[in-house]
Amino acid sequence: MKTPLFALTGKVAVVTGSSSGIGRAVAERLEHAGATVIGFDRKSGADLERLTLVVDVSDEAQIEAALAGVVKRFGRLDIMVNNAGIQPLGIPIDAITPALLERTLAVNVNGVVWGIKHAARHMKVGARIINTGSFVGAVGVPDAAVYSTSKAAVMHLTKVAALELAPRGITVNSVCPGTTETPAVMNIPDNPEIAFATARTPLKRLATVSEIAAAFHFLASDDSSYLTGVNLPVDGGIQAGWERYDTVAPTEFSDGKWNE
Ligand SMILES: NC(=O)c1ccc[n+]([C@@H]2O[C@H](COP(=O)([O-])OP(=O)(O)OC[C@H]3O[C@@H](n4cnc5c(N)ncnc54)[C@H](O)[C@@H]3O)[C@@H](O)[C@H]2O)c1
Repeated sequence: MKTPLFALTGKVAVVTGSSSGIGRAVAERLEHAGATVIGFDRKSGADLERLTLVVDVSDEAQIEAALAGVVKRFGRLDIMVNNAGIQPLGIPIDAITPALLERTLAVNVNGVVWGIKHAARHMKVGARIINTGSFVGAVGVPDAAVYSTSKAAVMHLTKVAALELAPRGITVNSVCPGTTETPAVMNIPDNPEIAFATARTPLKRLATVSEIAAAFHFLASDDSSYLTGVNLPVDGGIQAGWERYDTVAPTEFSDGKWNE
């Protein structure tokens, strides 16, 4: 029998932020492809089938100990998904406080740094590190200074870590979702982001978590072996550019010819 494409049989994966949304869908998808997945989340995964360790990714000691525990128990670490994040949107610069800035950077940026640092120590040639970026790390949107800065940092970290870990055969990439149907978005009462993002996204809808998880799956697989340092937009075309640009063709162009 032929091996299924993108199979992850025998691989051990850690997914942070695995109790909800994108992380949960990624964990399910990697398991479906044959990997053993261990979740790390602040919230216990008591309702989930997989082993989920209660870890606050902003705390280096917790990440270090949890990853060492995984390797001790499962013998290896092939895939590290640094996905846990908080999403403070709708906060203008004037309202930023030290507490907001510190917690957002601690979870979204420090958490990825600690995840990369302590996962890479246990990894061998062919291992994969995949971070969660965001379209807001590449495209400016108002009232998102802290969150979007944290995601821009994740996307730059992805490139730097890719360069440093390339000699060891470990690839580092990120998936940069557009607005996605997760509890973080859908559970905000009357969230205006849903209608706005639907209208502004070229594909005219939000992403489903499975569409985002599919990109993580590809990047986790052996088939992505020549990709590293890439921040992959999975955003319905948001990063492709402006949907409209009001212009007229110059007079030199007439009857299909360029007349100079
Ligand atoms: N939903 C979107 O539209 C969207 C778009 C682009 C990027 N993202 C990014 O995707 C990732 C997942 O977001 P989501 O929408 O699935 O959110 P979510 O709130 O549904 O899930 C996030 C999970 O991370 C966990 N978490 C939060 N802080 C943690 C910490 N300090 N330590 C460990 N776990 C922690 C939460 O408990 C939760 O289970 C985040 O990095 C987010 O910034 C989301």
